[in-house]
Amino acid sequence: MTALTLSTSAAPALRADAIVIGVAKGAKGPVVAPGAEAVDQAYDGKLAGVLETLGASGAEGEVTKLPAPAGFKTPLLVAVGLGAAPEKDAEYGAEALRRAAGAAARALTGIKKAGFALPLADSGDTGAIAEGALLGAYSFDAYKGSAKDAKAKNGKAPLAEVALLGAKPRDKAHKAAVDRATAVVEELNRARDLINTPPNDLDPAGFAAIATAAGKEHGIKVQVLDEKALTKGGYGGILGVGAGSAAAPRLVKLSYTSSKAKKHLALVGKGITYDSGGISLKPAGHNETMKCDMSGAAAVFAAVVAVARLGLEVNVTAWLALAENMPSGSATRPGDVLRMYSGKTVEVLNTDAEGRLVLADALWAASQEKPDAIVDVATLTGAMVLALGNRTFGVMANDDAFRSALVEAAEEVGEESWPMPLPEHLRKGMDSPVADIANMGERMGGGLVAGLFLREFVGEGITWAHLDIAGPAFNEGGPFGYTPKGGTGSAVRTLVRLAELTAAGDLG
Ligand code: BES
Ligand code: MN
Ligand code: ZN
Repeated sequence: MTALTLSTSAAPALRADAIVIGVAKGAKGPVVAPGAEAVDQAYDGKLAGVLETLGASGAEGEVTKLPAPAGFKTPLLVAVGLGAAPEKDAEYGAEALRRAAGAAARALTGIKKAGFALPLADSGDTGAIAEGALLGAYSFDAYKGSAKDAKAKNGKAPLAEVALLGAKPRDKAHKAAVDRATAVVEELNRARDLINTPPNDLDPAGFAAIATAAGKEHGIKVQVLDEKALTKGGYGGILGVGAGSAAAPRLVKLSYTSSKAKKHLALVGKGITYDSGGISLKPAGHNETMKCDMSGAAAVFAAVVAVARLGLEVNVTAWLALAENMPSGSATRPGDVLRMYSGKTVEVLNTDAEGRLVLADALWAASQEKPDAIVDVATLTGAMVLALGNRTFGVMANDDAFRSALVEAAEEVGEESWPMPLPEHLRKGMDSPVADIANMGERMGGGLVAGLFLREFVGEGITWAHLDIAGPAFNEGGPFGYTPKGGTGSAVRTLVRLAELTAAGDLG
């Protein structure tokens, strides 16, 4: 990953390949953002005018490149748009900085070292800029070009080194903000790699092996239930979904414990390494991106490792419900009844509603430890994408205060989410003539129906929330801000923030 340092160097003196400054949209044209004073001076205080001449407006994500002024040790100056300038005396928001840093990092692909001279009011801003730069510099090129000839890889190498100017390297808060950003983004970027890895190279056993190795490295206890152990334990949901695949399912439990913990948080992730729909096969046009259907498991995996690296004083257990949903002679059929780990029976009406089946077993397993709260994360329904679009995840819960806490945690870290209801009247649509419940109900409100199904498998009295990340998990459009094409790492930062709040005793 890109290396990140704090530097006391002034922009003109920094030995690098580029200097990044901020430009915002003011009432009368572009305005140069704080942090770039020395650069502006080199233009006799006329940099805003120069940028306007070049067509810059300061709009969010806009990138303007120009030659650095005489006397600078860098050849290139990059002005990145911050969006609307803040009101007088107000400061730039963390998310505006994060996005601008990400857009700049993407624009600097192929360049070795850049100095970022963006507005920095406090250590929170330092963390946001660090995160944005590290997230924006991400690239996934493991499958580009031939293995023999690394140079044949399409495109250029990502930005290798970022020096943040203006933050005090000896100030503990700024240093801690960079360390936190580095740990979180390294794990988040690994989640992106897992999501982007094609399903012929990542099956449930392979994912479990990666989790086992990471657990060892970071002092996290890992237990893997293979098909034998799942059968013995009666995990009918996970086994039923995995039954059609040549690659057997797994349930992975990662336990991070802190000697100072007062609370226990359980995270449950949907880990369908490929969702073909099973016997209820998805039509062409709906299956090309379904390697992303393990994004929930990737997110909870990244979050627990990040929590361990940060040494947070909270116990966190992550459950990865891993299976491949394929059609075959051994696949679960529409009409089959599964006996779940909780003992409930489920009539499978549509094998493409598989996520709720693997999650049901993992939620019940997580419940057995009586954690203070459970959060599950899943690319669960197309209905949620229709409702909220491609950038916002839905938050459902059996506790309104906990739902609000998650929406607020997401907002704090710059993830878009929205609270969704669990209307009781939708439950009867899942009544089954043969089993305790069916895995499908009314089509209308499909995302909420799925949430109601999951709720049935949460242990009595346990606070629970469900994040449906089907929209934001995988970006099929062009990159924007710090979000690349492909796997995004949606929900990782929200989960880490939730763990921090839980550790600090700021939740329940
Ligand atoms: N993995 C899909 C949901 C999905 C859709 C994720 C689009 C990402 C993008 C899920 O397993 C699924 O197929 N859900 C069905 C449920 C239905 C059969 C009740 C859906 O949403 O259509
Ligand atoms: Mn499906
Ligand atoms: Zn799915």
